Amino acid sequence: MASASEAQKVLTGRTATHDDVEIVERLVQYAFRGGKQSAKSWTGEEHLVRGPRITIEELHKILDLSDQVILLAELGDGIESQLVGCIHVTQEGDHSHIGMLAVDPDVQSVGAGKFLMSWAERYALEQFESKEMVGEVVSGRPELMDWYMRLGYEQTGETAPFNPPGVTPLVEGLHFVKIRKRLAR
Ligand SMILES: CC(C)(COP(=O)(O)OP(=O)(O)OC[C@H]1O[C@@H](n2cnc3c(N)ncnc32)[C@H](O)[C@@H]1OP(=O)(O)O)[C@@H](O)C(=O)NCCC(=O)NCCS
Repeated sequence: MASASEAQKVLTGRTATHDDVEIVERLVQYAFRGGKQSAKSWTGEEHLVRGPRITIEELHKILDLSDQVILLAELGDGIESQLVGCIHVTQEGDHSHIGMLAVDPDVQSVGAGKFLMSWAERYALEQFESKEMVGEVVSGRPELMDWYMRLGYEQTGETAPFNPPGVTPLVEGLHFVKIRKRLAR
């Protein structure tokens, strides 16, 4: 839960630059694999997989590409702000793909996740002229899938193997479940 002082702060967004990669890498790893939440909590993946979610080298490569962007959310009071979340958007033909959505576990449930999703969809629509947003959710996270459904996403019925490089699944049969949402102005 957000503290009273956190609740008075405002979320703002900006696009990431090469200067942000170290802090973004730490944030992503902490959110996906090293959060404060207990194992099997709805928010992280530490009970499902082990290994890096992203590397600094991969982040630099993303930032060199014109069809990809990393959006950052900051929480601040107008004087100071802190990075609290990020999302990676990739243009893929007539649709865009979201990935690496991560919110600092210390600042979750104050709306940063929904803020980033909404901005990613607007960015895809306006900058990449995408008609649809697609993504995937790792199996075994029903609460997270429910969260995407509440944001208007639906399952496509397709799955994909879970085999990111350098990552070890901790449970049998782990896979990605594909989701999508139609984007409209
Ligand atoms: C998923 C994630 C981005 C959400 O970020 P967030 O900033 O906490 O999200 P918001 O504050 O916008 O929304 C919080 C939601 O969590 C829900 N929630 C909070 N605690 C919950 C719990 N114990 N069980 C289920 N849902 C819970 C709230 O109901 C709220 O959803 P609602 O507004 O639709 O009711 C964040 O948990 C995260 O970074 N997780 C680790 C990385 C990850 O899994 N990314 C997604 C990969 S596909």
